[in-house]
Amino acid sequence: MYNTLLTNLTDGIFTITINRPDKLNALNKEVMTELNKVLDEVADNADIQSAIITGSDTKAFVAGADISEFKGLSIAEGKAVAKFGQETFFRIENSSKPIVACVNGFALGGGCELAMSCHFRIASDNAKFGQPEVNLGLIPGYGGTQRLVQLIGKGRALEMIMTGNMIDAATALQYGLVNHLVSQDVLIETAIALLKTISAKAPSAIAASITAANAVYSQNQNGYEVELEVFGNCFGTPNMNEGVDAFLEKRKPVFNRSRK
Ligand code: COA
Repeated sequence: MYNTLLTNLTDGIFTITINRPDKLNALNKEVMTELNKVLDEVADNADIQSAIITGSDTKAFVAGADISEFKGLSIAEGKAVAKFGQETFFRIENSSKPIVACVNGFALGGGCELAMSCHFRIASDNAKFGQPEVNLGLIPGYGGTQRLVQLIGKGRALEMIMTGNMIDAATALQYGLVNHLVSQDVLIETAIALLKTISAKAPSAIAASITAANAVYSQNQNGYEVELEVFGNCFGTPNMNEGVDAFLEKRKPVFNRSRK
């Protein structure tokens, strides 16, 4: 079904593996196009409760946008590349189903940006993060200048962006760029355990959590107002009635799959 992605759906958890190991899973046009298709699948397939994005093999998550496609682009074409990248990663960030990055090696340039667009990140001990675009006379263009500042603060972000230096997984954990650091052999199972915990909660509340948290960074919305709105809307959901009833009746809730 996909040339550059491998997918697997088990127990509602959809694992998407970027599969160009000979090019360290670099994001060429085909990968980006297929990422959009797979995001349609995540949104449309009711059997998918959550997703994992990772890279094939043990060396790289994603070593960046495919540099071979940059040669000779005009200013307008450069902007179009960034627009497509930003729009794709906004779709991940705004997905109503949780999407977790399992960073299994190099996460450089567009790879670091892809990981940052996910709802949270787990790193294996050989992971390395960096925004090395300055080495090419470029800057991050798939949201990296914004999300890196949001996640680790301006000083650390600008140091990474201006030096192009990589940080290791322990530093990424210390910076708060990743939530967990584990050995590579348990990377996916760590994400699965967390996603199973999340899947047991009300999907409508999970979607509302993502909407409210994303509003922190919105230029045209007040996050507190968004929180108030989505909190209020929870009172109109069958899942909220079920959750409260179950608590009061001292039983486990049985939630429906609706995300609204
Ligand atoms: N775009 C296109 N091809 C890439 C790539 C990228 N971002 N990153 C790696 N590759 C390719 C290499 O060209 C090489 O292909 P080849 O075997 O056909 O020559 C293959 O992947 C393996 O990479 P290689 O550089 O030989 O591995 P390494 O272990 O020596 O170095 C890196 C690993 C990650 C340090 C190095 O590949 C690198 O610096 N990549 C570019 C990172 C980058 O600048 N990303 C931001 C892009 S905007």
